[in-house]
Amino acid sequence: MTDQSSKALKTWGLLVILSIALLSAGLLLNDNEKQYAIVSSPDSGIRLEFKVISGKPHYRVFNQNVEIISYSALGFDFNNQEPLKNNLQVTDTVINEFKEQWQRPWGQSKTALNHYQQLTITLDEKSNLQRQLIIEFRVFNDGLGFRYQLPDQPNLQQFEITSENTEFSLVGDPTSWWIPQDFESYESQYRETPLSKVEAVNTPITMQNEEGTFISIHEAALTNYAGMTLKKSVLTNTLVSDLVPWPDGIKVKGQTPFQTPWRTIQLAKTAGDLITSDLIENLNEANMLENASWITPMKYIGIWWGMHMRQYTWEAGPKHGATTANTKEYIDFASSHDIKGVLVEGWNKGWETWHTGLNVQDFTQAYDDFDLKAVTEYAKSKGVDLIGHHETGGNIPMYEEQIEQAFQLYNQMGVTAIKTGYAGKMTPEGVHHHGQQMVNHYRMVLELAAKYKIMLNVHEPIKPTGIRRTYPNMMTREAGRGMEWNGWSDGNSPEHTLMLPFTRLLAGPMDYTPGIFNIQFDPQKQYRVHTTLARQLAHFVTLYSPMQMASDMIENYQNQAAFTFIEKVPVDWDETLVINAEIGDFLTIARRNNKSWFIGSMTDEDPRELSIPLHFLGQGQEYIATIYADAKDTDFVNNPTAIEITQVLVKKGDLIPAIMTSGGGQAIAIEPITAANQLHLTQIKDYQQQVKGRLAEFEQGSRYGEINKVQHLAVNKEIILNTEYDAGYSGGGMSALVDGIRGNPDYKTLWQGYRMQDLDVTIDLQQQQLVKQIDIGFLQSILHSILLPSEVHFQISTDGHNYLTVGQSEYNTQKGQPDFQIKNFSASFSAQPVRYIKVTAKNINALPDWHIRPGQESFIFSDEIQVH
Ligand code: NOJ
Ligand code: CA
Repeated sequence: MTDQSSKALKTWGLLVILSIALLSAGLLLNDNEKQYAIVSSPDSGIRLEFKVISGKPHYRVFNQNVEIISYSALGFDFNNQEPLKNNLQVTDTVINEFKEQWQRPWGQSKTALNHYQQLTITLDEKSNLQRQLIIEFRVFNDGLGFRYQLPDQPNLQQFEITSENTEFSLVGDPTSWWIPQDFESYESQYRETPLSKVEAVNTPITMQNEEGTFISIHEAALTNYAGMTLKKSVLTNTLVSDLVPWPDGIKVKGQTPFQTPWRTIQLAKTAGDLITSDLIENLNEANMLENASWITPMKYIGIWWGMHMRQYTWEAGPKHGATTANTKEYIDFASSHDIKGVLVEGWNKGWETWHTGLNVQDFTQAYDDFDLKAVTEYAKSKGVDLIGHHETGGNIPMYEEQIEQAFQLYNQMGVTAIKTGYAGKMTPEGVHHHGQQMVNHYRMVLELAAKYKIMLNVHEPIKPTGIRRTYPNMMTREAGRGMEWNGWSDGNSPEHTLMLPFTRLLAGPMDYTPGIFNIQFDPQKQYRVHTTLARQLAHFVTLYSPMQMASDMIENYQNQAAFTFIEKVPVDWDETLVINAEIGDFLTIARRNNKSWFIGSMTDEDPRELSIPLHFLGQGQEYIATIYADAKDTDFVNNPTAIEITQVLVKKGDLIPAIMTSGGGQAIAIEPITAANQLHLTQIKDYQQQVKGRLAEFEQGSRYGEINKVQHLAVNKEIILNTEYDAGYSGGGMSALVDGIRGNPDYKTLWQGYRMQDLDVTIDLQQQQLVKQIDIGFLQSILHSILLPSEVHFQISTDGHNYLTVGQSEYNTQKGQPDFQIKNFSASFSAQPVRYIKVTAKNINALPDWHIRPGQESFIFSDEIQVH
């Protein structure tokens, strides 16, 4: 067991050691074989192989026996010292298994399972220096981590790493989602390219290989070390660690005994499984804070967007934002809308030097028009917490000099959370935001914050690596391109926020600051937020942060029904499920807090319909779902704020569709019916009366397709589709129309869907036959916008040119019909010689007024034309 493991045992007491199998290589193996070791994940799905090849340590990774990473080298180069990567031989190999369930004080879910097999390799140098290097691999069911240990030893005391040479040799040319390497900032838009098109990246980088496996490379427990970026070698798809340097070019300065952060490789079958993985946190030390009860996730608003909108200034003056009066208004709003925190930027003296490059701030002196004491007392009287702000502008010596008094002041005033900022070039010059010095600075601030019982939200930080497990006051941080970029640049595309959850957010929570309601704020139309309003709500669920900002100015929230969702949505979760996920395209996440579920869905630039099956709801419990959706007239360009709010009763097994326009989204709050919301019941029951039966019937719908296998004249005959069906619902291909199987309720498999258009099909019986009846089946699923056709025509012909109408059915789609039904339309006539049969059906084109989404696109779904 490692130190970390035993600490976890003590702290959480939930540890179960499965087995400790010591495998001392050398017992049975010859010298050559000793240079090779293998370890698999507890479920055997992932296999790691270690091998010393010509004196150099290598590893490779298999997932379900498919090679994901081929042999990749490991080792270091030092300043004034031989590299530590050659002439190495394995002298000890240990494998053990560890299993522990631990509880989070806050997070995307309450419990985490830390279950892995560890392989510890000791390597000794055969050369004169005879140095020792230990490499630990931990293989989990959802990926692996490895780190280097440099033990205390005569020939390795103080050292300076000039290069860490960890390689990740990706097999094939995986599709990759990434941002470019940058030692100061992570604030780029994510992009998608083949790995071969990558030069150098910040981590996490997420990939999908040709077999469909998702791979994400990052690091965990970044402590007293430089941040790792990855450079791709020119000719191959090998990513090599490229550490952020000190001003003198050295990467890491240290003293043995020493250990590096973990290099992590998440592996997943689905993109959603990346999101629910606990791997990064598992590779961090257990909570070190004795008492974490003061740490409380919260929603907050703030004097913030107004500055980015150029409506207010940070510095004092006629447009000063952080005045006592303004802050009190924000406090009033927060207290009457269930928002715990109010952030105030620009309250302290020194902001006038921010843009001059001097960056001299005074973190204990308020501007004259801001009375810190009065404001904090007022906040307290209203049950609201003030969130403090320290913008260092990168002036580290200044901040380190003042930080203790600044934290003391906040602590005295009852300020329990601080947003820090490092926007600007670092002082001293040449120090990078992501180098070892800053990694240590950020940690110092975090530890000091813990001492003063302060929660942190860091902007321009080092990326998250799971440190929040050890210091749960490390709430959230930026480390990505957030909302603010919409205020004054090209902004963030709808795709960017669909890549964040699968890349940046795998590392940890992000202070994206969603919730701009005034989407098209700029009268000049130069800037805007690139989503619909419903999508802004969805972000509260899809972009996880335990401190989640409703970022717009409060005047834009006044009298907005959609704000109810923000009031209700929690910031801490018992459980998280990913329902639909395709990186860069769409995402649905459902999260549970106590007995309520909140669901966020989003789509990229393509309008999209997703299904949300509510299999996770409690058995036998009725819930009210409040659905905040793009409305029929929501338009990304001209009308992004139109939103439709609907309430329906739901239960386990129901299915809610998410219909989203370009850049759109949907947010749902699902709450158990309690005495408090009985009032809604009659209203909702009325609604249900109208859309009778809904999904229960859909599920119960007779599956007569399978049972009633029928033989008829058209089976296996040539079909000509005169109108195209919707490729999204291609059913069993064209043959589904005459394959002898009547569709079952699962319209994804056996039906052909026609979107907003008529069905027009001709069947060539290939020879004349006597025909007396033609039938065709249509599906109605009101909730899914699938309606029966308004008209069906049947025609016959002997030559394919002249057609005779033999039947015509009309159908009046109206309110009050059962949601789910399969209806047969047919024409019977006296037997006639027929070679060609033509069936046409007219769609109603747009959903009628009584529909849950009136006016939007509708479908007709047809299947199985029977000819008798
Ligand atoms: C950049 C931060 O990301 C932003 O939130 C803040 O308002 C400014 N710096 C000023 O501190
Ligand atoms: Ca896309």
